[in-house]
Amino acid sequence: MTTAIHRGPAVDELGPQGVRGICFSCDPMTGMDVAEETARRVGEDATWFGVGILASDEELALRSADFCRRHGLRALFHPLDLDVCGTDPLDDGLLRAIGRRADELDSPWLNIDLAMWVRRGESLLESLVPMPLVDAAVDVAVDRIKHAQDVIGRPLTIENAPYPFVVGDQDILTLMTRIAEGADCMMTIDVGHLYGLRVQSGRDTVLPSDDDIAWERVVEAHMSGTFIRRFEGGVRLVDDKHDWPVSDEVWELADALLPRAPHLRSVMAEAEGMTADELTDSVRRFARRADHWWSAS
Ligand SMILES: [Fe+2]
Repeated sequence: MTTAIHRGPAVDELGPQGVRGICFSCDPMTGMDVAEETARRVGEDATWFGVGILASDEELALRSADFCRRHGLRALFHPLDLDVCGTDPLDDGLLRAIGRRADELDSPWLNIDLAMWVRRGESLLESLVPMPLVDAAVDVAVDRIKHAQDVIGRPLTIENAPYPFVVGDQDILTLMTRIAEGADCMMTIDVGHLYGLRVQSGRDTVLPSDDDIAWERVVEAHMSGTFIRRFEGGVRLVDDKHDWPVSDEVWELADALLPRAPHLRSVMAEAEGMTADELTDSVRRFARRADHWWSAS
């Protein structure tokens, strides 16, 4: 068990000072009409806009940056080919291109799921391989994250990936704390992913070990809908569904965990596939609950 040192980066000094609020995301290839309509309707209920693009997507980065400027939003960059838990060697040319996209978006940090994103040069996107929940994963991830941060020139925040299957039996938040402290990076809690993993693993959704997590390093949280399949023998499989509303169980887990994070800056309503009406409702619902999540700050 990690007894957290929690020194880490001065997260309060990252990015736009004092800015915190609700983030929403859309597919920047197909969803920008929805984003435009939603941004107009929600006004100041949204603060951030999540941008998930590849290192080569310069045009999408510039278009997203323009969208943010016109609506008074700040961009948060989620690269789709930053492979911090894969086996391909990291490509410095690709990392520098990711750094240019981050500059264009002026994203204060880059969010990345702890997963294999690329396999032998092929982007895995919809088929991410989540980091195995074993001790040996920590050093591998630490080395890759340190190198990526050095070349990109901006800090990373590591996110707990979705787990359609589970290898290993360690707690994801405990492993994330060890990685974040080893690499001196920040953390993103995807509450839906965490709920799914813990339910699938037959664990309580809040664990005693959550008291020892480096909450000071948590700057982002994500939430979306969840879909639970139940199989014979009690086996459950939990998927997150970005076009579904957040379930009560995930709201409750967010209420239990997020107030522990004193430097939480953004809570994202993940929404790829939603209509403008659905996304507007979602962002407003997040904004109404947000005061509870910032309460520790
Ligand atoms: Fe997420």
